[in-house]
Amino acid sequence: MNAPPRFAHGSRAPGWDKPVDLAKEPAGVPGPAQVEVPPQLREEIEARMAEYPEPRSAALPALAAAQRLHGWCSPQAIEQVAGVMRVTPAYLESLATFYDMLETSPAGRHSVYVCTNISCSLRGADALFDAIAAAAEGDPDVNVRAFECLGACDIAPMASVDGTYVGPLEPGDAAALLEDLGAGRPVLPERQLARRHVAEHADGAELLLLEGIDEPGLATRAVYERRGGYQSLRRALAMSPEEVLAQIEASSLRGRGGAGFQMGKKVSFLPHGAMRKYLVCNADESEPGTFKDRELMQKSPHMLLEGIAIASYAAEITRAFIYVRGEYELQARVLAAALAEARDAGYLGERILDSHHSLDVVLHRGAGAYICGEESALLDSLEGKRGNPRLKPPFPAIQGLYQGPTLINNVETLATVPAIIRMGGERYAQLGVETSTGTKVVSVSGHVQRPGNYELPLGISSREIIYGLAGGPPAGREVKCWFPGGSSAPVLTAADLDVPYDFDSMGKAGSMLGSGAIIVVDDSTPILDVALKLARFYRHESCGKCTPCREGTNWTVKMLERIDAGEATPMDLEIMASVQEHIIGNCLCVLGDAMAMPIGSMIEKFRDEFEQHIERARERRGLGDLAASDGALAAQGGLEEHLPPAGALAASGAGSGAPGEHGGRPGTQKGGA
Ligand SMILES: Cc1cc2nc3c(=O)[nH]c(=O)nc-3n(C[C@H](O)[C@H](O)[C@H](O)COP(=O)(O)O)c2cc1C
Ligand code: SF4
Ligand code: FES
Repeated sequence: MNAPPRFAHGSRAPGWDKPVDLAKEPAGVPGPAQVEVPPQLREEIEARMAEYPEPRSAALPALAAAQRLHGWCSPQAIEQVAGVMRVTPAYLESLATFYDMLETSPAGRHSVYVCTNISCSLRGADALFDAIAAAAEGDPDVNVRAFECLGACDIAPMASVDGTYVGPLEPGDAAALLEDLGAGRPVLPERQLARRHVAEHADGAELLLLEGIDEPGLATRAVYERRGGYQSLRRALAMSPEEVLAQIEASSLRGRGGAGFQMGKKVSFLPHGAMRKYLVCNADESEPGTFKDRELMQKSPHMLLEGIAIASYAAEITRAFIYVRGEYELQARVLAAALAEARDAGYLGERILDSHHSLDVVLHRGAGAYICGEESALLDSLEGKRGNPRLKPPFPAIQGLYQGPTLINNVETLATVPAIIRMGGERYAQLGVETSTGTKVVSVSGHVQRPGNYELPLGISSREIIYGLAGGPPAGREVKCWFPGGSSAPVLTAADLDVPYDFDSMGKAGSMLGSGAIIVVDDSTPILDVALKLARFYRHESCGKCTPCREGTNWTVKMLERIDAGEATPMDLEIMASVQEHIIGNCLCVLGDAMAMPIGSMIEKFRDEFEQHIERARERRGLGDLAASDGALAAQGGLEEHLPPAGALAASGAGSGAPGEHGGRPGTQKGGA
């Protein structure tokens, strides 16, 4: 799992770390007469601006539209957007350098994003990337990039070709993929994700979300209605908002996005009455290993819309937004069509089904940034800014989008609401276990024979999921470790396979249920490879706002690279463990912790293997004598001399590496744009 050459921080936006030319006049808002804008682009941007209470929210869709026209966010493209939106080019540049899907230098007409994150790497993604990059070399039309998790780990290793997901792929598929692309044919039609069915479930399993999910046409209103769709909304509108909320509270439904907070409680925190309140559906789904929301949105979009309509009624909210990650091209198209159908049928819009409740829903697309899944970063991004997390409190329920009280919930959480209204909150709470009620869609990926989404009652044994449903590791292999809740969760080992899969049991076992994504690593993979893959991901995704996260993710990558290069001693493990401890709890959001917790758990549980790796790598370099080097370190003052002093990460403003080597998205060190 060597890291493929990929854009690194700073290198993606050439010159981002050059000193600012203070003698240069800052570029102001271009005047309408100064800039000529193609009418179609102007029309699209103006239409998007009209959708939001604050027109700046249209900045990302506007840049995406300009990029489609110009091929990249060129100075001309930026100037045209700035002219229509009445903002400065610098403001738009600060966005273009933050989001991975916006190109800041000329790029080919076609984009091929190859996922090289953990679940794909475990199944050969790095060799796939090399093969596709080599096959496309010299073709200026094709922009091949290594990308972080694309939310399709069930078809790993995979690629997104101009937004179409294909997989599983092998290096030998590279030529056919590029041929199809060049000829303008559908790319590898047999391998397209759109054709994939959900994994088989055991007979008799009670499915609330995935029941009949592959029925042809379920994404249309007609089929959804035929199966009883929108009846829960009718039932809810016949009750008072308080009664609907009481059902959600009685269900004890815990959020499915990561933190596991009870949805009913969250709704009850919102102030009552008519005011500028918002509902935001978090469809950013970027946690490596997680692909359940993708399945739900793509196959049963009306279930999500019905959930949004009911939840907004319970919270007396009249404006909602679905923030869907930019890479989910197909899902965004399906959702847009479902939204139009639901509006036409009177399930959304003014006076829904002749009730007094109205709801306007806007579909908003991100542009590639993991941090935008964090709720407060998502709100900033939705307001048309870089996705930087906000200081909490105030929590979004009190002060969120456009400063108004905001209910943010994950796709799966909201999609569960119609089932709760249909069966009643108390009956729902009887499923699962006491503190983890209901069913959960669990994404299983990595070294298992049947990767996919499985809906199951919370509290069943983890072994049943990994071995019973997903088929366990390939023949002859054993589970080495597994992440129970996406790549941010501390790893568990084979000894934990009988732990019940629910929020509290996972916590007691030293990990967390998180987004409900299990990644299995078998005994063929060195733990160092897993750690390095993860650390590089978090370094790339750190927004760079706080020092422990920005520097700590970078230090960790460097230390792991030192180990691999044979330049480390076991003392480096102590230093690395200490760096993780200094990150945890010292950051504005938990992205830093999301790296520190799993890396810390790997050092704790696989220390012997790390030490062997250090020793072997040193032997390869002819530096074998560890006792001597540890003795030399002791002579220099011992471990304490080499550990960062307590609070050093938090206090240090200085970077440890050359410009561009920090964790953090480009531009985080250049000051406000
Ligand atoms: C770094 C980071 C990334 C996150 N990514 C997502 C995500 O992609 N989708 C999601 O629903 N929640 C994500 N969350 C959790 C959200 O902050 C928030 O807790 C969630 O959207 C609330 O919805 P829920 O209560 O329905 O789970 C993330 C949190 C962090 C710290
Ligand atoms: S912890 Fe990392 S991602 Fe979160 S605000 Fe700080 S720097 Fe940004
Ligand atoms: S799609 Fe590759 S790791 Fe998720």
